[in-house]
Amino acid sequence: MIKNICCIGAGYVGGPTMAVIALKSPHIKVTVVDLNQERIDAWNGEDFEKLPIYEPGLAEVVEKCRGRNLFFSTDVDKAIDEADAIFISVNTPTKTYGVGKGMAADLKYIELCARQIARVATSDKIVIEKSTLPVRTAEAIVNILKNTGNGVDFQILSNPEFLAEGTAVADLMNPDRVLIGGEQTENGKKAAQQLVDVYKNWVPEANILTTNVWSSELSKLTANAFLAQRVSSINAMSELCEVTGADVGEVAKAIGTDSRIGPKFLKASVGFGGSCFQKDILNLVYIAKSYGLDEVADYWEQVIILNDHQKRRFASNIVKTLFNTVSGKEIAILGWAFKKDTNDTRESAAIYVADELLNERASLKVYDPKVNKERVFADLNYLESRSKEENTELVNIIGDPYEACKGAHAIAVLTEWDEFKSFDWRMIYEGMKKPAFIFDGRALLDLEELSKIGFVTYSIGKGN
Ligand code: NAD
Ligand code: UGA
Repeated sequence: MIKNICCIGAGYVGGPTMAVIALKSPHIKVTVVDLNQERIDAWNGEDFEKLPIYEPGLAEVVEKCRGRNLFFSTDVDKAIDEADAIFISVNTPTKTYGVGKGMAADLKYIELCARQIARVATSDKIVIEKSTLPVRTAEAIVNILKNTGNGVDFQILSNPEFLAEGTAVADLMNPDRVLIGGEQTENGKKAAQQLVDVYKNWVPEANILTTNVWSSELSKLTANAFLAQRVSSINAMSELCEVTGADVGEVAKAIGTDSRIGPKFLKASVGFGGSCFQKDILNLVYIAKSYGLDEVADYWEQVIILNDHQKRRFASNIVKTLFNTVSGKEIAILGWAFKKDTNDTRESAAIYVADELLNERASLKVYDPKVNKERVFADLNYLESRSKEENTELVNIIGDPYEACKGAHAIAVLTEWDEFKSFDWRMIYEGMKKPAFIFDGRALLDLEELSKIGFVTYSIGKGN
């Protein structure tokens, strides 16, 4: 029976996942470890509103469990040695160098974890892949563990995470399914059962699926590819709607009522962002190519191509509408996070739209309720499209949305934060340069109302 869990990686997955396991399994000690001292200090901080990750409901869960059976530490060796089960929840970004650059998953952090576990472990362990990994990664982990370990037994399980940011706690409390892949041997099945028993503390057994390791690894990439594909599919239709006079919201509703299609994930947008969709599809494309499956690779790559097109076309539409020049014009950017209810900005469409506008020498005023100034500049500077000094000169981060819009020629809504819906748009309009434009990249606002006030409006996927 698993009584002591270690999770390597205190990020967007490790933090919330372990907090919920600790909440639902008070008899299990859960220690989340990370190399990043600042992150661990923030998880241990006095103020629960300042945890390193913003997720609705997370602070309450951490407050209940921290110090009881949930611990955050940088002492990785100690936590590994004490644990019966070790979750690997480290990041697996797209490779930025060498073979597979720009496509394959970079597994260096995974390998480091495996080597550290092998070096430190002095008793049998279940090692669980929680990170999203290419199919057949477990093979490499087994090799490292079995060939460099201290002769103890390791069982490797794949247990990918399906939570979405912004709803992480709710997703974890009530998952559609938990997936556990294990070796089809007697010991493999026993290890899988032990992990099933942990989840059974709150997840109905019928929702806990067990498979072989490769199916589990590949199912995670497949799930993200299918979800992203839906967004690209509806976004492709949004462009067609704009030129034909159809309304993508109405089209989405009409097709979503077909129970075979379903209503979810049909919201047209300025493009999907987040740390995983693009990374995981590129990884899938790379895997398909490496097996010589070029048609399969091309099919999935199109989801990314369409997404990049959507971000670019949104930005160029702003430029075109503002009389083909935005140089020296002020544009207010409402929302920087890749979706609402998160402070995560990784691959956010806002970064790329802003970048295109800055290339045209626009002056930007950015407001996001949860993203700080340092993050916005880090995101822009990372692109290396222009010097840091130029970014500082052209971009202002403003803590008050009304201030951000004051004097602006146009507003671009790039995240679907609920609070944007209840702004006093009349007051915002009064303070803007005329004609005042609003570009809604999330089909969030009531355009009819806005046009009555005087705004010139554009909403993704709405034709005239
Ligand atoms: P993250 O960057 O937020 O967190 C990863 C953490 O691992 C970082 O804090 C980093 O310091 C730490 N780390 C890296 N190497 C380490 C090591 N050797 N020892 C100790 N700590 C180490 O990443 P994330 O968003 O939590 O994603 C983690 C994995 O989960 C990825 O594979 C991702 O694809 C997958 N995933 C993410 C989400 C999501 O919503 N973010 C959802 C499902 C799956
Ligand atoms: C996604 C998946 O939904 C999770 O199941 C998965 O675990 C996770 O990736 C992961 O592996 O990291 P996440 O990226 O956190 O979760 O958020 P989503 O809700 O999927 O949104 C992704 C992007 O798609 C956002 O930018 C969102 O605004 C956009 N989106 C989503 C749309 O534009 N339209 C939609 O209808 C849905």
